[in-house]
Amino acid sequence: MNYEEKIRKIFEKREQPPLCYVHSYGCQQNVSDGEKITGILCGLGCGVTVSRDKADIIVLNTCAVRENAEVKVYGHIGELKHLKKENPGLIIIICGCMAEEEKTTAKLRQSYPFVDILFGTSAMRELPRLLYEVLTEGGFVSDTACRNGECFEGISPVRTDCYKAGVSIMYGCNNFCSYCIVPYVRGRERSREPENIIEEIKGLAEGGCKEIMLLGQNVNSYGKGTAAGIDFPELLQRINRIDGDFRIRFMSPHPKDAGRDFFNAVAECEKVCKSVHLPLQSGSDRILKEMNRGYTAERYMELVDYARSVMPGLSLTTDIIVGFPNEGEEDFRDTMEIMKRVRYDNIFSFIYSKRSGTRAAGMEDKTPEAEKSERMQRLLTLQRQLAEEGYKRFEGKIFRVLFDSEYNGFISGKSNEFIITLVKGERSLIGTMHDVRVTKTHNWAVEGEIVG
Ligand code: 5AD
Ligand code: SF4
Repeated sequence: MNYEEKIRKIFEKREQPPLCYVHSYGCQQNVSDGEKITGILCGLGCGVTVSRDKADIIVLNTCAVRENAEVKVYGHIGELKHLKKENPGLIIIICGCMAEEEKTTAKLRQSYPFVDILFGTSAMRELPRLLYEVLTEGGFVSDTACRNGECFEGISPVRTDCYKAGVSIMYGCNNFCSYCIVPYVRGRERSREPENIIEEIKGLAEGGCKEIMLLGQNVNSYGKGTAAGIDFPELLQRINRIDGDFRIRFMSPHPKDAGRDFFNAVAECEKVCKSVHLPLQSGSDRILKEMNRGYTAERYMELVDYARSVMPGLSLTTDIIVGFPNEGEEDFRDTMEIMKRVRYDNIFSFIYSKRSGTRAAGMEDKTPEAEKSERMQRLLTLQRQLAEEGYKRFEGKIFRVLFDSEYNGFISGKSNEFIITLVKGERSLIGTMHDVRVTKTHNWAVEGEIVG
């Protein structure tokens, strides 16, 4: 018998199937991994609960991108201590990016000895074995070995939503931006074969899924090492040809790999939303070099100009790091300058967080934290001003909106342009797509009425 069968036999003897609670922190890639982990557990005979207190198996799928993400995770692990005391049969599993950091095992053993299993980002398939060992022998087990070729084919996810789905097209990252821990915790870049991706998306489209988000750390580097040998623009074209009423997004492309063919494909494929998240990180050439980003501010602007020349209505969003080691006032102003030139519809901004093992962690940094916080405030103020003006262009426009949540008495969704759109309406709108006429604009969302 394999481990799966052995575990199913154990669980079948219980009065009720054990319930698992899986919580993923961080990026969409991690959320997607969490859905596969849930899929594995369901395959072993578990049910799913959204209530941590009712769970027999708790999985925290962690994020290590910034220190505050880790602090949050440790806070939540700490909260599990009393649950384990009340229910010694509870199995606590920590996985994801933090599991790959060397310091984590020691910290868990020392301060959180009630954790049962620790497994790394590429060890998902080992979960049945690890679980079996804990169920039969108890104790702490871990597997954080790096399996660089792993693309997790054949693992059926249990998805949180049925109307929108994240589909990983690749895993890992080879870029080694100097601040970033991702290449260390997610291993080398590898791409799934296109036919596996297309098969998955066909299934989702047939099941009525309305939005497919293609996921990868650097999606426009897709295809290297695949037998099919196709690149990201070609993958987009192939996915675009799949029958069905769904829209396509992707997250995130890297400016250094964004050529004209990439933007042309986005422009040509009618199912692909005309919104691109293009991480800038900094507008200073000196800092971009220190970050090992592989482009200059001017090159970035050329890309934006080209993208807008082929897609005049294109909506752009970005990531910006404030306070990279020794970022000076001049460097910061360069970032604000690019923001004014691009006029992003939204930015995700982060104060630099030192990640041990990365190259930037060894750089001396004389900028005081207070100055970094002050810069962050200036950045956010500028973005609010720019969006206040920028969003006015949406007034009277018709947006195609997929509703996904409730917000302050509104039903909220995202338009093709990735703009938060609020309408008054019933909860049953969630999961459906409608045309909405924009009647009012804010600097972070628009309000409107469903038409047709
Ligand atoms: N500190 C702050 N922000 C970071 N990011 C990645 N690493 C760090 C770090 N060490 C940000 C980048 C990236 C986003 C996902 O997280 O902006 O694009
Ligand atoms: Fe990190 Fe850079 Fe890779 Fe993005 S591209 S995951 S920022 S190393």
